Amino acid sequence: MRLTASILATWLQLSAVLAKKPNIVFVLTDDQDLHLQSMDYVPLIKKHLTDKGTSYKRHYCTTSQCCPSRVTLWTGKLAHNTNVTDVLPPWGKLMFLIFVDQGLNENWLPVWLQEAGYDTYYTGKLFNSHSVDNYDKPFPAGWTGSDFLLDPFTYAYMTPWYQRNREPPVAYDGINTQTLISEKALGFLDDAISNPDKPFFIGIAPIAPHSNMYIDENDVRHWGPPIPLDKHAHLFPDAQVPRTPNFNPDVESGGSWVRGLRKQDDDVVEYNDHYYRERLRSLQSVDELVDDVIKRLEAAKLLDNTYIIYTSDNGFHIGQHRMQPGKMCGYEEDINVPLIIRGPGVPKGEVSNVVTAHVDLAPTIMQLAGIPLRDDFDGAAIPLTKPEQKKAVNKRQEHVTVEFWGMAYMEGGVVFRGGETDVVLNNTYKSLRVIDVKKNDYNFYYSIWCNNEHELYDMKTDPYQMTNLLHPTAKPPKTILGRPFEAVVARLDALLFVLKSCKQKTCVEPWRALHPAGNVDNLKDALNQRFDDFYIKQQKKVRFERCEAGLIIDAEGPQFETDGLLYRDGSSWSEWT
Ligand SMILES: *[C@@H]1O[C@H](CO)[C@@H](O)[C@H](O)[C@H]1NC(C)=O
Ligand SMILES: *[C@@H]1O[C@H](CO)[C@@H](O)[C@H](O)[C@H]1NC(C)=O
Repeated sequence: MRLTASILATWLQLSAVLAKKPNIVFVLTDDQDLHLQSMDYVPLIKKHLTDKGTSYKRHYCTTSQCCPSRVTLWTGKLAHNTNVTDVLPPWGKLMFLIFVDQGLNENWLPVWLQEAGYDTYYTGKLFNSHSVDNYDKPFPAGWTGSDFLLDPFTYAYMTPWYQRNREPPVAYDGINTQTLISEKALGFLDDAISNPDKPFFIGIAPIAPHSNMYIDENDVRHWGPPIPLDKHAHLFPDAQVPRTPNFNPDVESGGSWVRGLRKQDDDVVEYNDHYYRERLRSLQSVDELVDDVIKRLEAAKLLDNTYIIYTSDNGFHIGQHRMQPGKMCGYEEDINVPLIIRGPGVPKGEVSNVVTAHVDLAPTIMQLAGIPLRDDFDGAAIPLTKPEQKKAVNKRQEHVTVEFWGMAYMEGGVVFRGGETDVVLNNTYKSLRVIDVKKNDYNFYYSIWCNNEHELYDMKTDPYQMTNLLHPTAKPPKTILGRPFEAVVARLDALLFVLKSCKQKTCVEPWRALHPAGNVDNLKDALNQRFDDFYIKQQKKVRFERCEAGLIIDAEGPQFETDGLLYRDGSSWSEWT
């Protein structure tokens, strides 16, 4: 009798645990690469996340810059649908205010999670231009507890400003920001754990391994390598940027301004290797923070009901295609970022090849929290369980759209020789990745710069993007995938044409917009010869009228919704809506 009662009690406890919504810990690093092997230098993250969860090796950011990327993350909308396209105000307006003006402060993840019964916490960098002047105009909505880094000190490792809840900002001097953020994150985790009635979401956004910003005695701001904690300052003395075929190559590569770069001399390469080591060292504090988070969750017996999501806002390049340290380009180093998810039902130690993007993370978290997905999401939830992952190989979209407006910055703080500048204008482009997940038959990067230069890399044979098949001097193959080269390019262009201004479901199922009958789901289907006339001759092409540093529609050529799209059967978009 007593045994039965105790079994019953255990069962009741267990079902209470099962019924409780899962907790979510979201760790968002800043500028962390996947392709420069940073994940090989974080053993605790490997132990707790990579080995205990699934790594999504084809995860992409959709705008390779901090603020647009973070807004996409927390709203589930592409930058062309939020108009948060840059970090600074090229149009005389702060991007944080654009976020507020668009009504996004009432319509983003923390608000939805709170409505669903979650306690929500956040510490670290939220957005750029969220500053010591505007931090309360208004306060970011939706947080139970928050402690934000504020501009212009967001990247000042040793003199950061943080702003907690509704309190005024506090300047810290002489304590590494990475120590502060770890303390703040663990403090919020304790707060969350102490309220057993509510599930929680915690966003932890350290700035490592982003460059350090320091202000000299004349009030001039400079960039330099990140500043690791003292105890990590001497690690990895021999590490250097991987010498891949696209590292500081003898021949020029890339497109637009990238192609004009000169080969870096030995001093610059040496400095950049030093910069690279400082990045790896600065990441050690994040590695230890993840370890601390896991230990506390374990001690509170919450680890089994908590999802941990680890990613970076965008990727990073150092020396690839001769570029100085930075991001903001569409090359694989800048857009393909780490994503690891650990949690109930997520296969352990697995690598998933399905194509996923930052725009998919808000829907993913909503799904975990049991909240109905919104119609205005531009992404789709990421498959987590083994059956979901399996199904996605056949069913999930195979593309990511990448967009950028404005300038590119060199962030290493190197002394330039030969007249290079640290800011490049007209870094405006649209691009896409298309990958055949099921059979690995194709893997492309296609892009159009605002000067209408085109790039196409066949990444099955050219994973380092060294041969632009659309460069005027290129000798492209006569056929790809058994179809004429021109016929393949026409499909990619049409896909980008739809994606560059897509909204909602069309961003997930762009082929439906081109083939409303529903008989085309992917590039392979679209390559059917009977569509050649439509794609090659009828469909309008992606083109820019001019370069702009922001989303100015009349600079962006024909538009899908209004004038661009003629369907295969001769009807137009307006007849379908
Ligand atoms: C940038 O683009 C504008 C407009 O398309 C053009 O007038 C200008 O010459 C370009 N500047 C550079 C540095 O390429
Ligand atoms: C985006 O914002 C800029 C700056 O406020 C504005 O000039 C532009 O018209 C906006 N674009 C769209 C499509 O709303």
